[in-house]
Amino acid sequence: MGALQRPCLTANNMTSPSVSQKSLTLKQIFAPVADGISSIDEALRGIATLDYPIVRGSVEAIIAAGGKRLRPAILFLCARFYNYDLEKLVPMAAAIELLHTASLVHDDTIDNALVRRGLPTLNSILDEGTTVLVGDFLFAKSAVLSTMGGKMRATRIFAESLVTISEGEIEQKFSSHHMTATVDQYYKRIYSKTAVLFAGAGEIGAVVADAPEDAIQRLRFYSKQIGMAFQVVDDILDVQSTAERIGKPTGGDLRQGTVTLPTFFYLENATQAEQDDLIRVIEGVDRSDAAVNQVLARINASDAVTRAADVARSFVEEAKAAIADLPDVPARRSLLDLADFVIQREY
Ligand code: FPP
Ligand code: MG
Repeated sequence: MGALQRPCLTANNMTSPSVSQKSLTLKQIFAPVADGISSIDEALRGIATLDYPIVRGSVEAIIAAGGKRLRPAILFLCARFYNYDLEKLVPMAAAIELLHTASLVHDDTIDNALVRRGLPTLNSILDEGTTVLVGDFLFAKSAVLSTMGGKMRATRIFAESLVTISEGEIEQKFSSHHMTATVDQYYKRIYSKTAVLFAGAGEIGAVVADAPEDAIQRLRFYSKQIGMAFQVVDDILDVQSTAERIGKPTGGDLRQGTVTLPTFFYLENATQAEQDDLIRVIEGVDRSDAAVNQVLARINASDAVTRAADVARSFVEEAKAAIADLPDVPARRSLLDLADFVIQREY
């Protein structure tokens, strides 16, 4: 259960994250913790306490736009096996979701992204300095909430996750626009930017619910592997999907000079001329729409997406195996279904 285990690539018949099997909706999957999920929506709505209408309105909008609420749901589901005390769990889940939102506010400012979740980003409405301050405000609120679970260990997991996320973002800043990164560095990067917060959510849920230590470790590992799979799928959708479906422009990683798993796999069998074209995009020599679209088309015509989907599948299989021996409560079924959702999702 190491922090950065690389999955063994398993052959299977999966050709994309979207497979034919009909998947459950998130609402169905989250049913055992529906009370927790609706409570965090309420807790988050109370966050936009700023007096300035334009700032308050924007903050309310990004909170209301929500996302899939995967991290809070994982926190609640991991707690559901043991002492499911919403008074302690709701602030912790809100803290995790708010930290995630704050990091996206900062990330969109750094990336100059104009659209997220189908809505204009804060940095497209406010000036850069104000946007950073709003991100800081959301982060500060999340830090206060993180102390309310009644467990110092839970607050420490929250703080340590933030350290890892920030380190990862700094590292990504220094490694983008270069073709020198390796696949192992890619796994380390997606752990830092995504999986660590999923892992933290699962662990915090289990810790606050007084789970036995072995179960805490299993639930953390499950959550981490789900986070890894989630990010691999995100990176597949970035090369494969449509902007309307994922709520942000596609090809964003290439345009930002970030090399993701499908691109690594594509490169392995690309001709020298194809590699040169890709390097010109990554290094920013030619980042025209035509150049980006040509590389995207080539990646999609190769086996890179299938191979990346296999990797996502293997992370999910490891996640499921980790919770196989936990008590057979409805939350365990939900975690197994959530694992399937993560690799079948199209948005
Ligand atoms: C998205 O990456 C980025 C993150 C999930 C993490 C960003 C973290 C920070 C900016 C540090 C946060 C610090 C504080 C204090 C809150 P991406 O750009 O690859 O994904 P995207 O396509 O969704 O934008
Ligand atoms: Mg970004």
